[in-house]
Parts: sequence; structure tokens; C-alpha cells
Amino acid sequence: MRKQVILGNWKMNGNFAEIKSLCESLNRAVSDDAKADVAVCVPFVYVDYVRANVIKKIGLGAQNVSEHDNGAYTGEISASMLKDLSCEYVIVGHSERRTLFQESNQLVAKKAKKAIASGMKAIVCVGETLAERNEGELERVLTAQVEILFDVLSEKELEEVIIAYEPVWAIGTGLAATPEQVQSVHKFIRSVVTKSNELLAKSIRIVYGGSLKPSNAKTLLALEDVDGGLIGGASLKGEDFGEIINQAKCITC
Ligand code: 13P
Repeated sequence: MRKQVILGNWKMNGNFAEIKSLCESLNRAVSDDAKADVAVCVPFVYVDYVRANVIKKIGLGAQNVSEHDNGAYTGEISASMLKDLSCEYVIVGHSERRTLFQESNQLVAKKAKKAIASGMKAIVCVGETLAERNEGELERVLTAQVEILFDVLSEKELEEVIIAYEPVWAIGTGLAATPEQVQSVHKFIRSVVTKSNELLAKSIRIVYGGSLKPSNAKTLLALEDVDGGLIGGASLKGEDFGEIINQAKCITC
């Protein structure tokens, strides 16, 4: 039984006034008895403010973490610092970081390990570019992105991983993957996990991200191998994010 999890990724958006009003609108739109787990991954500098100003139901996450514990790494933020601020989740390996900051599969896995060692869940993003999909490379790319986790993380640590499938071509384009594409890739990712750990494959949450919005949430979140969503643009509007949460399927209902 996998409880769905709806995650917002605010990316590098907002200023103090906007974050304040987003918190207010989230509090109006998200109900305390929402059936899914809910969290927002916010810019580092607003983590503490958001923690103090959203309802308890809304968990907190960051969007990146250092692969180092502490020391002379100017500008970096450690996992234990995030934990100090009550973060429960950290996104690692978002395609924007893989592309713009040259993050490798190995580095992403190391970051996930640090996040988990500090007591947080790692949201590990995977996904193919359009060129990779068109060249028939989808399965090879995803397999490499997922299998590295089994090399770097222990069996126990893997239980704290959420995989986010975000096809790069669907991010911020308004064009989500079709339900058929989403289900087939999620099923494929689960099969990759099955090869290393059959039990984990049944429990690990695989969420979808890429132009997920109120109008397609119901269909995409209802798919068999979809266990929630990672939402960019639509998570910046409290009402839209609340509507998506309301479409999550409830395993106990
Ligand atoms: P959009 O929902 O804006 O497409 O962004 C998805 C994403 O990158 C979430 O991490």
C-alpha cells in the first residue's frame, strides 16, 4: 500500500511578499485532513519562514543539498542544516541541476545518501530529454539514473527514497506526458527496482512531474504506478496546488 505524496517545487521563485501570500493561499486551499502526504520544497532562505507560517499538514523540503557534511564549501548547505530547520524532504538531481550544474548520477546518489543520513527523505529526480526519447535511449538513461542508487545507498536507506519521474521535455512546457507514457515509464522504473529489491519495488513511491496541473491531475494521479506528483508552476498558486492534492487517490477510501 503506497500513500500518495504531492510535492511542490517552488524553484527559485518569489520574494518575501509573494512567499507570504503563497503561504496564506496554501493554508486556505489545503485541508488538514488531505488524504495524501503533502510538502513544499522552497528556496533555502525561506524554509524557516514557511515552516512557521503554513499549516502542519504541509511538510517542508529543500531543492538541493551538499554532498559534504560540513567545512570549507562556500555557498553550500548541508543536510544537517536542513534538518535543523525541520526539513523532511530534499529534492536531488532535478534535471535543471543535472543540466545547468553538471550533476552526475553518482553525485545525485551521494546527495541522496547525505539527506537520508540526516533523517530526511530524498526525492530523486530522473527523466529523459526529448532527444534521448527519440533516439530510443529512454530505458538506458532511466536504468542508469535508478541503478546507481542501489550502488550507493544501503537497503535501509533506499526505504527513504521517493523517485520523481520528470521527462525533461514536459517540464515547464505546459505539455505533460500522456497517461500511457507516464504509466509505461513508471512501470518500467518499478521493474528496474524489482531487479535489485523486489520488496522495495512494491513500497517505493514513484511520483510524476512535468506540467502536472489541476486539469490533468485526476487522470495522471489515478494511474496504477503513479504514487503522487512533483509540481512546479502549479505549486506557486495555492488554489491550483490544493486542487491537485484533492485529486490524489486515497488508498484507504
Ligand atoms: P512544472 O510543473 O512547472 O512543469 O515543473 C515540474 C518540475 O520541474 C517539478 O520539479
